[in-house]
Amino acid sequence: MAAIAIDGPAGAGKSTVARRAASALHFIYVDTGAMYRAMALFMLREGVNISDEAAVADAAERAQISIRHENGEQVVILNGENVNGLIRTEEVSQTASAVSTVGRVRARLVALQQELARQTDVVMDGRDIGTVVLPDAECKIFLTASSAVRAHRRSLELKARGEAADEEQIRQDIEERDERDRTREISPLRQAEDAVLLDTSDMTIDEASEAVLALYRDRT
Ligand code: DC
Repeated sequence: MAAIAIDGPAGAGKSTVARRAASALHFIYVDTGAMYRAMALFMLREGVNISDEAAVADAAERAQISIRHENGEQVVILNGENVNGLIRTEEVSQTASAVSTVGRVRARLVALQQELARQTDVVMDGRDIGTVVLPDAECKIFLTASSAVRAHRRSLELKARGEAADEEQIRQDIEERDERDRTREISPLRQAEDAVLLDTSDMTIDEASEAVLALYRDRT
């Protein structure tokens, strides 16, 4: 099966670019961050102390996470419930980053991701796709942008939805999450040796999506 692996820090534009590339190539887009977010939501609901690694690992056994696709959109199912509308809050973002440091959580979700890529052509985005989940992907991209640009994009998104946005606070939250994702012991965020670095700071979404498609076509 064909695969494009896209990794990078929070807010670099991975999901938009990955979704567009998947649609152009008729591949399935797999958002792995949404799986860690569903796991985080489960921990928050269960009141699990997320700094207690063993408690998180034990609780994770009770969370059944799967995905399905509806009209080209990924739907995340947590113990039978569609949780798409509940996993995009700042609290879930930070909790997802924290629970993703736990090895047994990662092992479960990585197995699910690998199974999906065995069944179908995928564009998969996350933090460890090129390094751990799909080390043999024919096309690997590390998408990044400065934290100021990422915070600015995020604040525009929030404002477009009519929500309040404090850009400086957003930048701090993004940097905190990146720091945790980059420095964790297991599968930290890093560029795979054979991944192409794409800095989207001065690119539009269209340009970034075209660049990803061009890289894929070059490599196949
Ligand atoms: O991509 P995202 O912002 O939705 O991801 C949320 C958190 O999940 C992120 O801060 C780290 C974690 N994550 C991970 O560890 N590995 C992945 N493949 C995807 C996400």
